[in-house]
Amino acid sequence: MLGNIGWSEREDLSQARFLDPCIGEGAFIVPAVEALIASLKRTGTPLTSDTLGGRLLGVEVHRPAFLKAREAVGATLLRMGIDDALSMRLQDDWLRNDDFLLRDFQDATFTHVVANPPYLRWSKLPQGLSATYRSRLPLAWTSGDLSVAFIAKMIDLTANGGRLALLSSDRWMHAAYAERFREQWLRKVRIDRVEKVNAREVFQAPVSTYPLIAFLTRADTGNERRPTGFHSRDEATSAIVEEWMSRLPSIMQAGCEIRVGPALGHDKAFVGGALDVEEELLIPFLRSREIVGDGIAWEGGQVISVHSPGGGLIDLQRYPRTAKHLARFRPHLEGRACVKRDKDTERWYRTIDRVDRSLWARDKILVPEIYCDLKIALDEDGRVPSHSLYAIFSERWPLSVLRDLLASGVLGAVMDCIAPRIRGGCKRCYKRFLSRLPLPQWDALSRENRQGLAESSAAGDRVGFTERVADIYGVEVDVLWPHATHDWRGLRDRPGVKANDGI
Ligand SMILES: C[S@@+](CC[C@H](N)C(=O)[O-])C[C@H]1O[C@@H](n2cnc3c(N)ncnc32)[C@H](O)[C@@H]1O
Repeated sequence: MLGNIGWSEREDLSQARFLDPCIGEGAFIVPAVEALIASLKRTGTPLTSDTLGGRLLGVEVHRPAFLKAREAVGATLLRMGIDDALSMRLQDDWLRNDDFLLRDFQDATFTHVVANPPYLRWSKLPQGLSATYRSRLPLAWTSGDLSVAFIAKMIDLTANGGRLALLSSDRWMHAAYAERFREQWLRKVRIDRVEKVNAREVFQAPVSTYPLIAFLTRADTGNERRPTGFHSRDEATSAIVEEWMSRLPSIMQAGCEIRVGPALGHDKAFVGGALDVEEELLIPFLRSREIVGDGIAWEGGQVISVHSPGGGLIDLQRYPRTAKHLARFRPHLEGRACVKRDKDTERWYRTIDRVDRSLWARDKILVPEIYCDLKIALDEDGRVPSHSLYAIFSERWPLSVLRDLLASGVLGAVMDCIAPRIRGGCKRCYKRFLSRLPLPQWDALSRENRQGLAESSAAGDRVGFTERVADIYGVEVDVLWPHATHDWRGLRDRPGVKANDGI
């Protein structure tokens, strides 16, 4: 079930979030932990509380089962080489001994949701508990059996485009008591596949239901209230973007990774044009203002990487020029909250985030976090972006093609609908907005489309490229056109570019 919804070591799970609302003794959560760690190891992501925290949530109300699941997760982490301290932190972060139906998860959303929800008739619930549930849960959830409430809440907690896998009784699909639930909640999902299964094969203990396994995709349809987070006043574009979101995978599911540039915690100390420090510690550095048009106008800035490739802080005694340079900023660097909070005065010269040389050496697409005039550039020179730039990496999409696709209007249209507008009509496109961007899997495109995109991108044929993107996204070219970057549009009339009335 996990593999079927893409929670597997073969996928890049570094930004994904998994939920099992009733983990029991851990039949799903244990393999989910295994897949997560294996995936991060495979993609070379460091295993830290930052990268692993918040990736999983497992809830269980029954204390003995919860403790067994927690023990099993601990044993799995140990077996996979996670040290005790991190393992304890992750167990605390991931696992909750709580009532899933009563707990408020605020605005948490998950990309992958799996459960074998409890099948229990409402009439069998202790009276006090069913009264509490009935006073706190929507009416449509509280008749028939408890699994209906679980499935409804799971759907609500799934991100648009996110996938669900359920092992449950078939009652929520057919029973009269679940009609209101079906009417109101099933239209938020697409049912991808339902398989009847043999109870004796899938359960460890005998059960008296007709079980099925269902795979669903969260896909809000246009005929209901718009999912929260749409800001556009342009209803037509909003409807189109919603349709893309319901049909296409997200950019993360299509194998991209999004990261923000590292926070340094006093740029003046770490960045400069002609720094008198040891050459080997310097890496080219890019600020938002150096993304010009859709290209890069590097001003020659460099950042000092004060961490060694292994991740530890460098020993300043071995780098006397760097030591002398940083000493000038010492009072300021020591006064930073990150140093004071961790009572870490020895490491006063560290940057807030490690400037990871091998990560930033990879080719990436750069998008400024705040833009008034959208710009999207491709960096193939291993530069480190500032904290105000987002980097999009992908092993699956050819990056120059993906850059062009984003510049041709797809990113602009989506951000126009979901990213908030700030002063001066500018947009703030946080990672959580970028990561919702609908993008087909490269491998799922026809050969003709892959070849056509690659050829027109390489030839600079922006009109031909945009026409193909419009075709893939199922819209007219002039839906994309107003949202394309300035640069993308500016070139349309240049000699050599095909004339096209539609654009
Ligand atoms: C069918 S079992 C799931 C078994 C699980 N897949 C496993 O690995 O063992 C359903 C689980 O839901 C738990 N449960 C029931 N009501 C719950 C609630 N309100 N919140 C969280 N868990 C609940 C039960 O204690 C039980 O462990």
